[in-house]
Amino acid sequence: MDKLAGIDSAIRHYYSQKAVSAELIEAVLYSVNAGGKRIRPLILLDLLEGFGLELNDSHFDVAAAVEMIHTGSLIHDDLPAMDDDDYRRGRLTNHKKFGEAIAILAGDSLFLDPFGLMAGSGLSADVKLALIQELSYASGSYGMVGGQMLDMAGETKELSLEELQLIHANKTGKLLTFPFVAAGIIAKQEAAVVADLRMAGQLVGLAFQVRDDILDITATFEEIGKTPQKDLAADKSTYPSLLGLQKSHDILNESLNQAQAIFQKMQEKQGFNSQKITKLIERLRLHG
Ligand code: IPE
Ligand code: IPE
Ligand code: MG
Ligand code: MG
Ligand code: MG
Repeated sequence: MDKLAGIDSAIRHYYSQKAVSAELIEAVLYSVNAGGKRIRPLILLDLLEGFGLELNDSHFDVAAAVEMIHTGSLIHDDLPAMDDDDYRRGRLTNHKKFGEAIAILAGDSLFLDPFGLMAGSGLSADVKLALIQELSYASGSYGMVGGQMLDMAGETKELSLEELQLIHANKTGKLLTFPFVAAGIIAKQEAAVVADLRMAGQLVGLAFQVRDDILDITATFEEIGKTPQKDLAADKSTYPSLLGLQKSHDILNESLNQAQAIFQKMQEKQGFNSQKITKLIERLRLHG
């Protein structure tokens, strides 16, 4: 099956159980079905294939889980109390469509449901336990939520590059690192390989937020599906605001180069097939 279709089908399947509130599921699926690049689940699936695994339903469940948490984080990030955005993935934000209370609950669902989804997958118990721990760590107080907290606290002051790095590493980097580490866990790789995967994830995670901050300045609504120049209007500390666009492009490219070098090494030493992940990472370059 096509990977994008497989990811969506795993999410839809989870929400096809008899609903407690059909209205809640409608709000959840509104944001999921709005699309998005699906970069996190695609990273997982491309890496698993690189390790020579044939993709099965359990792999798609884990891919779905990380996309669900990510989508929940976007719904909450857009709320009036946070970034107050009207558009996301080319359509009205969840709270604009359903109201704030439902948007908060839709986000809550997308944060909690993935753990049940993964627990119910067909992977072995030790692999599932490790994945559940990693996903909680990447998403909660020690990851995305912690980073969002720092991001908000930093809004009223000019940040140093070091402070900004810490925010990016947590609000975006850790959840983006999850699929890299998860692939190593599922493919039963030794600790040193999982450590290399984590390093690659951190590099791509940093690159990804720098890319998002560049696009805030340079892209159109049609390209990003959200209102451009929001960071600029909010006078937010970002890589471009601190270092300028050229240096931000350099950091984006350099981080991606370093991640590619890790996969090159894995290909040479571990017989990993880096073709798919290399191609996916190359898609993150901006030509500006
Ligand atoms: C946007 O994430 C928010 C960040 C963490 C930078 P994506 O750029 O992955 O958003 P979608 O999933 O494609 O909509
Ligand atoms: C969001 O960062 C990171 C999340 C944890 C959702 P941004 O606030 O820059 O993401 P966008 O630009 O709204 O997608
Ligand atoms: Mg934000
Ligand atoms: Mg935002
Ligand atoms: Mg942004």
